[in-house]
Amino acid sequence: MILLQTPANNKRLEEVSIFCLNMDIASEYSKQNPGSKEAYKKACRNLPSGCTRTVLYWPPFPLCLAAGRGTRLWDVDGNKRIDFNFNNTTLILGHNHPKVVEAIEEQLGKGTVLGGPTEVEPKLAEELVRRLDGVDMVRFTPSGTEANMQAVRLARSYTGREKVAKCEGAYHGSWDAVDISVAPPLEKAGPRDAPFSVRQHEGIPDGVLENTLVFPFNDAEAAEALVRKHRDELAAVIVEPVQRDTPPTPDFLKALKDVTKRHEVLLIFDEVISFRLSQGGAQGLYGVTPDITTMGKIIGGGFPVGAYASREEVMAPVVLPETVFPDFKAPRLGFSGTFNAHPVSMAAGLAVMQEMKPEVYRRMDFLGERMRRGLRRALDDVGVGAFVGGIGSFFHIIWTGEEVVDYRTAATGNRDLGRYFSLDMMNRGFFLLGHPNVSAVTTEEDVDTALDGARQSVKALKPIIKERAPHLLHT
Ligand SMILES: Cc1ncc(COP(=O)(O)O)c(C=O)c1O
Repeated sequence: MILLQTPANNKRLEEVSIFCLNMDIASEYSKQNPGSKEAYKKACRNLPSGCTRTVLYWPPFPLCLAAGRGTRLWDVDGNKRIDFNFNNTTLILGHNHPKVVEAIEEQLGKGTVLGGPTEVEPKLAEELVRRLDGVDMVRFTPSGTEANMQAVRLARSYTGREKVAKCEGAYHGSWDAVDISVAPPLEKAGPRDAPFSVRQHEGIPDGVLENTLVFPFNDAEAAEALVRKHRDELAAVIVEPVQRDTPPTPDFLKALKDVTKRHEVLLIFDEVISFRLSQGGAQGLYGVTPDITTMGKIIGGGFPVGAYASREEVMAPVVLPETVFPDFKAPRLGFSGTFNAHPVSMAAGLAVMQEMKPEVYRRMDFLGERMRRGLRRALDDVGVGAFVGGIGSFFHIIWTGEEVVDYRTAATGNRDLGRYFSLDMMNRGFFLLGHPNVSAVTTEEDVDTALDGARQSVKALKPIIKERAPHLLHT
């Protein structure tokens, strides 16, 4: 038995039977990371679950990180790992890129947050407008969650309707209207082609369930049927054009575009993660232009950020009506936030975007493909038939024999095996969890070293795979 504090109830030290983690992997992890274990125990005294982001907890305890540089991450025990997470896809130029540090230092030399518009904010907006088709205007928020909140509100204001539709399995941030059916238990999820709306967390009122409709990713027919049925009530359809690393089927985004346009419903692409896939994000890659685009992560250069962008006509509710001094009229849709467009985020984000030239995306695509191919080969050589997916700079293993195209197929994956693999890779010197990805500073050597580690790890996991998911073994 090991003692650990569960995120569900940090007041209670619960005994967790070691059966849930392979003894060798878990005890090696504990041996390598005594400082992290101690830090976690201490942090739990005052922080629910020991830290402020639920996804940063993993059993038996998360690593307490100390520093990052380029593609390397150090924890408080001095262990060095190659990072393939980059704060869940945020740090596209790696940790502390010199150009980003220079921009931050220059901005900090002028102050922190100044309490008025700054020169750097429109520069980042201009850079984003240049990259996105059908976009004239951008508004910044402190997070991707708030970008989606505002985008949905904007769509409601623009259309005068209330409902939104989202894909099962999509994450659009921790906010009521979209925190529905993100990872619903299958027994509550309803039919595959007409899923129920399932609240992701407690505290979300019933009324929200009525206003958020759900359809399966990559099912154009189901999406069209839902939009047709609710056309008079739907303000927006919000999708991740690449959902959790899963690319769209060829017709899916185009079908969404056509049906929403036909019924005057706004189409929102949440590109908080997928914007890293090309100069113009996933929409640039697939040639489908939404009505509203939301962004986050890479466009803040490692600082808090979010943004929503659209054409002038859609943004009209947010624009101040013209008046003559001393008259003032508030816009139909106001949005204040003390840290909106924080100058340091703007400066860091601008520095990142200026580095992201076409050849950099091409290199990342090449490395992502090298990783995906290498993982497939490693699994095959070891005789394991798991699914390797991803696109561009994303890669992942889902421990299933099925082809993953949506939430239901992804849900056939064995999550325990994912946790074993991730922990074992940490033991071997790789930080590979959440949305694994390569950055612009990741090298071929980093990828090949990780592939060697992955091959050894899958070999080591074979007895566990045999016990828990024998159908994945070739022999
Ligand atoms: C697709 C997507 N949308 C929205 C968000 C929320 O962004 P933030 O964490 O900045 O609030 C995330 C976060 O991971 C995301 O992956």
